[in-house]
Amino acid sequence: MKKYDVDYPAYILEQERFEKNISRICDVQQRSGAKFLLALKAFSLWRSFSMLTPYIKECTASGPWEARLGHECLGGLSHTFSPAYNERDFSEVLLHSSHVIFNSIDQLNRFYQNCIDHTQDISIGLRVNPGFSPVETDLYNPCVNGSRLGISELVMPKELPSCVEGLHFHALCESNSYDLEKTIHAFEGRYHDYLPQLKWVNMGGGHLVTHKDYDVDHLVALIQRFKQKWNVEVYMEPGSAFAWETGVLVSNVVDVIDQGGVQTAILDVSFTAHMPDCLEMPYQPIVRGASIKMVEDGFVYRLGGNSCLAGDYIGDWWFDKPIEIGDQIVFEDMIHYTTVKTTFFNGVKHPDLFLEEKSGHLQLLRRFSYEDYKNRMS
Ligand SMILES: Cc1ncc(COP(=O)(O)O)c(C=O)c1O
Repeated sequence: MKKYDVDYPAYILEQERFEKNISRICDVQQRSGAKFLLALKAFSLWRSFSMLTPYIKECTASGPWEARLGHECLGGLSHTFSPAYNERDFSEVLLHSSHVIFNSIDQLNRFYQNCIDHTQDISIGLRVNPGFSPVETDLYNPCVNGSRLGISELVMPKELPSCVEGLHFHALCESNSYDLEKTIHAFEGRYHDYLPQLKWVNMGGGHLVTHKDYDVDHLVALIQRFKQKWNVEVYMEPGSAFAWETGVLVSNVVDVIDQGGVQTAILDVSFTAHMPDCLEMPYQPIVRGASIKMVEDGFVYRLGGNSCLAGDYIGDWWFDKPIEIGDQIVFEDMIHYTTVKTTFFNGVKHPDLFLEEKSGHLQLLRRFSYEDYKNRMS
């Protein structure tokens, strides 16, 4: 099994796989006529953006900082949606956005004039709630009862305000084109009266077009039909799809303990600080060379994080030999929604960020220091 030549725990983005994803997304973009935006909330490793910028220059942002990062590092203006904007930040949002999407009619009323008065053109949109989502985990389902995300058709004004040029919906998560088809159907059912007035529709994120089983031809046909039917531009804003299966988190075994027959390998990374989705979703990540199904004659372990949160562990994995101190444990598919969510909780050392170039050379993008930890509070 490949052993990574790194001194510390590390996230490693693989150039070859990242470029493969970009090329698939560009192909869908070109064939469907939809414009794809990068959702920075999933992946914002801007030192790798030179691989994207020949093709993707715009992002979707959730506020002024993401919009600014997208503008500075991808080059284009952002399509910005925030659950609520405040007066203090709004001019910065405008500075870095081409599209601004509001989550309530009150917010639209408060800020639309700022958009109209802004020096560059701002296209105004509203986020609506399609009332259907295939996502089963409430934490990731924007259509749960009473969701704060997206205006329900029940409170939409009868006439769309004349300044509104687009509608936005987001209801998917690691979903396929058939889920999108059902969502579009629900969206059209609720909001069809507004559609003839629109210039664009943003179908949110969650489109896992780089998954090996994704039916890209079906998606292309779906978007083409929608564009033709309503005569609108279509925007898609996936995040995970860009970084899907593009790299690993490499960690090391620091201790192995046995408590009442439960063997735990304690690592130099933490689930809560470095792989939080594993605990939030929750899901058990793939560990290279190990099985989550029982293996006869295998050696079973929990993997434990190095924070003092009691629940900072997941198990069980079966290995083909006993784990020893110093062994490398490699978590697969650890690039999307990891580096954007990490914390310095407990003062746990933050993994390095590397790019594995096509040649195999590991380029260090960032190493974190004690000062990074300390300065968060200064
Ligand atoms: C409004 C919006 N757009 C896009 C995305 C990106 O979704 P994904 O990374 O699943 O493609 C999200 C994720 O939560 C979102 O909330």
